[in-house]
Amino acid sequence: MARPTQARILTGNIRHNAQRVRERAPNSRVMACVKADGYGHGITTVSETLHDIVDGFAVACMSEALALRDAGVSKPVLMLEGPQSADEIPEAAQKNLTLCINEWHQLEWLEKARLSAPLPCWLKIDTGMHRLGFSPQGTAEALQRLERQARGSELVLCTHFSSADLPTDNGVEQQLQCFDEAAGGAPYAQSTANSAAILKIPGSHRDWVRPGYMLYGGSPLADAAAAEMNLKPAMEFSAEVISVRDVPTGDRVGYRGRWEAKRPSRIATVAAGYGDGYPRHAPDGTPVFIDGKRALLAGRVSMDMITLDVTEHPEICVGARAVLWGAEPTVDEIATAADTIGYEILAGMPRRVPRLVTG
Ligand SMILES: Cc1ncc(COP(=O)(O)O)c(C=O)c1O
Repeated sequence: MARPTQARILTGNIRHNAQRVRERAPNSRVMACVKADGYGHGITTVSETLHDIVDGFAVACMSEALALRDAGVSKPVLMLEGPQSADEIPEAAQKNLTLCINEWHQLEWLEKARLSAPLPCWLKIDTGMHRLGFSPQGTAEALQRLERQARGSELVLCTHFSSADLPTDNGVEQQLQCFDEAAGGAPYAQSTANSAAILKIPGSHRDWVRPGYMLYGGSPLADAAAAEMNLKPAMEFSAEVISVRDVPTGDRVGYRGRWEAKRPSRIATVAAGYGDGYPRHAPDGTPVFIDGKRALLAGRVSMDMITLDVTEHPEICVGARAVLWGAEPTVDEIATAADTIGYEILAGMPRRVPRLVTG
C-alpha cells in the first residue's frame, strides 16, 4: 500500500482564486505565474486548470516553457529570466515563446540571432529591485534596439516590486514613478503588478498583471490572511498517524530531546517530515489538525516524521488523518511559525509527495 502522505491539489480553488484576480484587475490581461512547478502544485495541472481563465503563463526558464508547450499550452508563455544562452533564442522562436529581455547581453544575442520572423518580447526596467532589468537611464536605448527586432510584434514594458507585500513604506509609488519616467510615454503595453500589488494597488494593474502566490490561495500580504481576501488554499498536505504512545512526565521527545513532557503525555507520530517538505525549523507548538482537532508539534521535525502532543485528545489513534496545511492550519501560519514564507514551503514540496489532483 502507498504511504498515505499526499498533497491534494484543489483545482476548483485555483480557479476560484483566478476569478479573484479577474475581479480585482478587471481591465488587465492575466499572466499566471506557474514557475517552480506551479509553486509546487504541478505546472501542467495548473496550466490545464487555468487555460480558459488566464491570458498567458509566466515561467522562469526554457525547460519550464517547454514543459508547457509539450503539455499543449497554446497561449503566450513568458520566460521571466529571458534567454540564458544565445542558442535559446531560435528555440524560443520555434516554440513561439515570449522572452523577457532583462540585460544588454540578451539584447545582443537577440540582434545576432537574425530571426526570420519577429519574436514577442517584454523589456524589464530596473526601478529599484536591483535584480534584473535595464537601468532607467538605459531604457530608451534598449527599447529602440528592441523595437528594431520586434518589427511590429507585441512589446511589453515591465518592472517588479521589491516590497509590495508591506503595508507601509513599500516603495511602490517611487518604483511606479521611476517606471513611468523611464517608459517615457512609449506606446507599449505595461506590466508591473504581482499578487500583493493586484490586491492593494489598483494604480499598478496596467495592461498585464502577473499573479503567482494568490492563485495558490496564500496571502502575499504581510498584514492580512488569505481568507480575508476570499482566497482559498490550493493544496492540502496530509499524512496519517502511524504510532501513539504514552510518555511520562520529564521524558523527552525526538532528536536531542527538544520537547519535555511537563505532565503524563500522549504523543502521536505522523508520517511526514522535512523530506516531505515540512519545514525543519518548525518550533514546538506549531499546529497540526488531526481529525479536525488541533494538536501541537512536540520535538524536532525528523526527515520522515513529526511528533505531536495529543494529550488533550485521547480518541486520536493510529490511522487518524493529520492535515499539515490546507484550510486549517494555513501554509502561511506554518511558514510564520517556521520563520519562512509560504512561497518557499510550496515551491519546495518534493516529488516524493504524490500530488492528488481533485476538482
Ligand atoms: C517577475 C515576477 N513577476 C511576478 C511574480 C509573482 O509574484 P507573486 O507570487 O508574489 O504574485 C514573480 C514571483 O516571484 C516574479 O518574479
